[in-house]
Amino acid sequence: MGSRADSQMKGIENVRPEDVDAYKANYRCFTPGLQTTDVMGAYTAWAQTYDATLCSGRYNGPEMAAQEIAARVEEDLRHCVRVLDVAAGTGRVGTELAKRGFTMIDALEPSEGMMSILEDTGVYSFKYTEFLGLGENSVPDDTYDVVVIVGGMGEGHIPVSGIDDLIRITKPGGLVINVMRLEYLDYVEAYKDKLEPYMDLLHQKGWWQKVDRKVVPNYAFDKEGIIFVHRVL
Ligand SMILES: C[S@@+](CC[C@H](N)C(=O)[O-])C[C@H]1O[C@@H](n2cnc3c(N)ncnc32)[C@H](O)[C@@H]1O
Repeated sequence: MGSRADSQMKGIENVRPEDVDAYKANYRCFTPGLQTTDVMGAYTAWAQTYDATLCSGRYNGPEMAAQEIAARVEEDLRHCVRVLDVAAGTGRVGTELAKRGFTMIDALEPSEGMMSILEDTGVYSFKYTEFLGLGENSVPDDTYDVVVIVGGMGEGHIPVSGIDDLIRITKPGGLVINVMRLEYLDYVEAYKDKLEPYMDLLHQKGWWQKVDRKVVPNYAFDKEGIIFVHRVL
């Protein structure tokens, strides 16, 4: 039987028994109330075992994102498309993109511990050890054809204001692809009734155009994910 603290973990109620330990490890980085420094400390502590804990099958966001991007970029153009992987973690998304023929992949990841694992993948060119949405970052304007975030949205992670940065750094005509857990739209206070309305507001204002919004099964821990695709105008 789980403890009281376990039962207070959001979303744990329908997690399979064999995934409970991994869910708890993940929750250490997504616990409500964590400050940015706590989140960074939690990732640095987890970095060495992150990939084993969130193995493919249990966490499928990186493959889903890479498939989504590959479906939108013809094979013979992939070598000349500049991609920025935001909240890149240990480099799972870049690795999946490289398997599909993308060669110009940069990373933005604030945790030095996660970044040091990412470096070993060898698939990223330029690396920004920086935050998105928490003040200035050094990524130049209008730089990327595709900007992708996978698992970077959640409690204490990229704030709604990060959307402005995404638009700023993407070339006009470029794509922003955000893959996240669906239930976060409902129970992360910072996003509830804020994140999607803000995305839609920017669509109405003509900053970007909503290209797709789809709910997908088995994103992580057998839970649904959501894939947002926007084209910057
Ligand atoms: C769950 S991991 C996802 C990593 C990778 N994209 C993947 O799919 O495996 C979330 C990552 O977001 C990063 N992160 C948290 N807050 C961030 C912010 N404000 N800006 C950019 N990255 C952030 C963390 O350091 C962590 O590496």
